[in-house]
Amino acid sequence: MTSANTSVEALAEAFGPPLYRYDLRELDAAHDRLTRALPGPHTLYYSLKANPHPRIAERLHRLGCRAEVTSESELETALAAGCPPAHCMVGGPGKTPALLDHALAHGVRDFSAESHGDLHRIGAAAGRAGTTARCLLRINPDHTSSAQAALTMAGLSSQFGVDAATVHADPEHYTRVPNAQLTGLHLYMGTGLDTTDALLTQFETALTTAAALAELGLPLERLNLGGGFGAPYAHAAVPSDFPGLRPQLAALLDEFTPSWTEGSPEIVYESGRYLTAPCGTLVCSVVDTKTSQGTTYVVLDAGINQLGGTARARHPPVPIEAHPLTPSPAPPTECRLVGPLCSPLDTWHEALPLQLPTPGDLFTVPNVGAYGLTAALIGFLGHRPAAEICVDGDTVVSATRLRLQRSPLAPRARSPY
Ligand SMILES: Cc1ncc(COP(=O)(O)O)c(C=O)c1O
Repeated sequence: MTSANTSVEALAEAFGPPLYRYDLRELDAAHDRLTRALPGPHTLYYSLKANPHPRIAERLHRLGCRAEVTSESELETALAAGCPPAHCMVGGPGKTPALLDHALAHGVRDFSAESHGDLHRIGAAAGRAGTTARCLLRINPDHTSSAQAALTMAGLSSQFGVDAATVHADPEHYTRVPNAQLTGLHLYMGTGLDTTDALLTQFETALTTAAALAELGLPLERLNLGGGFGAPYAHAAVPSDFPGLRPQLAALLDEFTPSWTEGSPEIVYESGRYLTAPCGTLVCSVVDTKTSQGTTYVVLDAGINQLGGTARARHPPVPIEAHPLTPSPAPPTECRLVGPLCSPLDTWHEALPLQLPTPGDLFTVPNVGAYGLTAALIGFLGHRPAAEICVDGDTVVSATRLRLQRSPLAPRARSPY
């Protein structure tokens, strides 16, 4: 698009804060780090839930990622980014018949089934489309190995996947669903695994679980080991390149699935956070400062409407750090940094030492290319979503703003299902 100074200050000047700056070259670097850390051969899916920006999906597709999608909109983004339907996989609990029909009509054949009912609905939709779907059965292992995960999603009672013990009790129940051909297993157990050891422990649980199920006769042409590769989120830090993961994971694969290097099973990983978090910076600005009962408040033009919806819904909430773009050497005042929403929940920092800023001063939050704008409370209070600016070196390749739009809707004649 335009060659320009793509610094945070220049973009804020050109487009106005709040804005997300996505540096597409950081995607190249993250993809390179992750693929070097993983033993080959492998297939890597990009989980669009982390950031469905079309330019990000397109760049990761060009780098060789397939697309893991969970909605019509994510699927359309992946296809528009150039990802062929044969490289898209639809996952997530609560896949509606409408979503399944939509995916099948667009040529998608790969699904991750989260329950027996889900498997049946996938088969029924494939039958309506006159085809057979290839399904991975998502498994919830009997125990968790991911005590270090920021968010554990398996090994405990979970809405994700089928308990391994349930499959053990009646494996054939899952292999004889019309039009839903089971091709393998899917084990995604949690997100935010920051260390090689945490990843290895998780992969070992996955491989033990998968090997036991394969012994019962469950097909294992593909084995999706998930990932949960952790990366710094909303604070400044350098992502790990997971030293030692490659040889140690290769050794585990050799032990549990000796023919994996010949593609049997095909080893699959999926990642959202690790690939995209480092590329994004939120840039916002000070709107107001004031004092109340001895506390100094700094009000920013961005808050939980632009960042941090899912992160703050956690217990305890994920800390999110906004800092002045230009730190000042002057003696600091403790400030309560807040967003623009009419809720005391919209607080960045309770007591951040700052030189009192003035309206217009810029603040930034690093490493928010994942779970940023679209994971925020984007419609609450109706402020415009932050602009999203993609840069590639010194070129601005895309400058857009998401719009929430109400459109008229006629009642449907009757449910087609
Ligand atoms: C099934 C599944 N795959 C992939 C992901 C992406 O995880 P991450 O962004 O941590 O890589 C998630 C996140 O919730 C998930 O539930």
